[in-house]
Amino acid sequence: MKTIKLHDKEFGLFISSEKIQNRIEELGNELNKELKGKNPLFLIILNGAFLFAADLIKTFSDDCEISFLKLSSYSGTSSTGVVKQVVGLVENIENRTLVIIEDIVDTGNTLDYIMKELKSKNPAEIKIATLLFKPKAYQKYIPIDYIGFEVENDFLVGYGLDYNGLGRNLTDIYKLK
Ligand code: IMP
Ligand code: MG
Repeated sequence: MKTIKLHDKEFGLFISSEKIQNRIEELGNELNKELKGKNPLFLIILNGAFLFAADLIKTFSDDCEISFLKLSSYSGTSSTGVVKQVVGLVENIENRTLVIIEDIVDTGNTLDYIMKELKSKNPAEIKIATLLFKPKAYQKYIPIDYIGFEVENDFLVGYGLDYNGLGRNLTDIYKLK
């Protein structure tokens, strides 16, 4: 099995590029059926979702728009420590159909935070698309509309996902050995 090394760790091939692309085509069919005529605004969560989003959005054949969101963490002045903030949303999202595009949903904390921020701006509806989902780690009840692959609680890299900055450029997804 193909093995790669990033920093100090070894990873084995887990989901091939071909499987990823085939699954994206299936998700694309669903998106086209369900969102046609709605001019959805795709919200790409940086950095990890950039490759998945690029391939997924190319399958959408009707009008749509895109925007990018990044979560920035900074040390707060209070003892609660790290505070997250959504940066980059400039569009007026009131009454829009939004599609959040994530690389991976793990505990769901990130997604929960993003959902709260977006809901406060009164969109018509919010759909969620994630390439990877770890059901055993998920601690929220927010339903996820489009899931590429359900995976175990393993650490994955490649196709946008990184290990300390490395691995995002890989076309396949790898699992920590
Ligand atoms: P959550 O807030 O726990 O759902 O975590 C989501 C974020 O954690 C993702 O957007 C990733 O940045 C990171 N993450 C979770 N699992 C993995 C993984 O297996 N590999 C790389 N990053 C991960
Ligand atoms: Mg991420």
